[in-house]
Amino acid sequence: MRPRIATFREFRDAISAYRLPRVLLAALELDLFTVIGDRSWMLTTLAKKLKVSERGLNILCRNLASAGVLHKQGSVYRNSQLGATALNANHPAYRGDYLNLIRSHWTDWIRLMEPIRSGLPLDHDVPDSLDFRRRFTRAMHHRTLEMAPAITAQLPLGHAQTLLDLGGGPGTYALAFLAQNPRLRAAVCDREAALEVAKEIASTHKASRRLSYVPLDFTKDPIPGTYDVIWYSNVLHMYSPKENQAIFRRARAALRPGGRFIIQDAFLCDREGLYPTEASLFAISMLLFTERGNTYTVSETAKWLKQAGFVSIKPVPIRKGTEDWEEGIWEASVPSLRSGMIASQKGSSKNRTAR
Ligand SMILES: C[S@@+](CC[C@H](N)C(=O)[O-])C[C@H]1O[C@@H](n2cnc3c(N)ncnc32)[C@H](O)[C@@H]1O
Repeated sequence: MRPRIATFREFRDAISAYRLPRVLLAALELDLFTVIGDRSWMLTTLAKKLKVSERGLNILCRNLASAGVLHKQGSVYRNSQLGATALNANHPAYRGDYLNLIRSHWTDWIRLMEPIRSGLPLDHDVPDSLDFRRRFTRAMHHRTLEMAPAITAQLPLGHAQTLLDLGGGPGTYALAFLAQNPRLRAAVCDREAALEVAKEIASTHKASRRLSYVPLDFTKDPIPGTYDVIWYSNVLHMYSPKENQAIFRRARAALRPGGRFIIQDAFLCDREGLYPTEASLFAISMLLFTERGNTYTVSETAKWLKQAGFVSIKPVPIRKGTEDWEEGIWEASVPSLRSGMIASQKGSSKNRTAR
């Protein structure tokens, strides 16, 4: 594969790519899409309303229009479809909690040299506050609310009756699985503060009657109960290989024979662990925000799964454009009682032959 950056021009373009993101973030900082709403605005009136200079707003809006998030006609601007909905705080489809998290990442990424030097996450001596946990959980909901129904629709659960959404945060996936599978019962397992948010979100869903909550720290506590399926989405990258191996063992112990452990994460798919690029870049986030997190190759994850006693490890194909991560879903099974019996019969007949 040809490297993406081979020439000086490509290098320059890559390190200048911060410009459009900064323009888009400036628009969010001004709450521009909310203020524009569903009206058309003369630039002069809009500048007065936002209390900014006409010159500044003119150049900003021209760039927003050239990016497609605003529409321009002379000196009149209006929202694009996206601007009027997901970016507009007065619209029900607003995804503000996730946008706020991304905005905060801008200032975090500026500090990248700190964890590169120390190997420790930013502000590692400041404990995780309840307020942060709630905001983060809400952000996860706004991140996945479109994706979860599309992904769960491509994950048939067969006759499964029970599912555990392990590290399920806002429970967005659990609710999507419940909506897809009318006979299923699900539980979301997470920290107490995240589960409070999950309960608030579920309160407006019909399926919430089939949803329960398991507050615990699964790096410390065993997982109570036995499930047909455990869905483990976007948690693997938060932990070290050793921690992940221990979590896999706990997950296996909480699955019935033949049960399925389905993992979604930013997997690296090549032998050197470089691609997909998104998965490599995501490891930088783990460097910034976690003690020991990273992104992992499919083959090392499969090795941990086998060590924990899982079999039949295979990818779950997801339609392009609907996936969270490229080749990002893998599943493994607990051996069924039947396959266990066959294996032990094979073992005993082997012993007989050996005798
Ligand atoms: C990145 S979020 C993913 C949320 C959701 N699964 C998704 O895919 O959108 C990771 C979640 O795992 C939870 N988590 C991480 N470590 C945990 C632990 N040791 N015990 C309980 N929950 C944990 C976090 O609180 C957070 O809600």
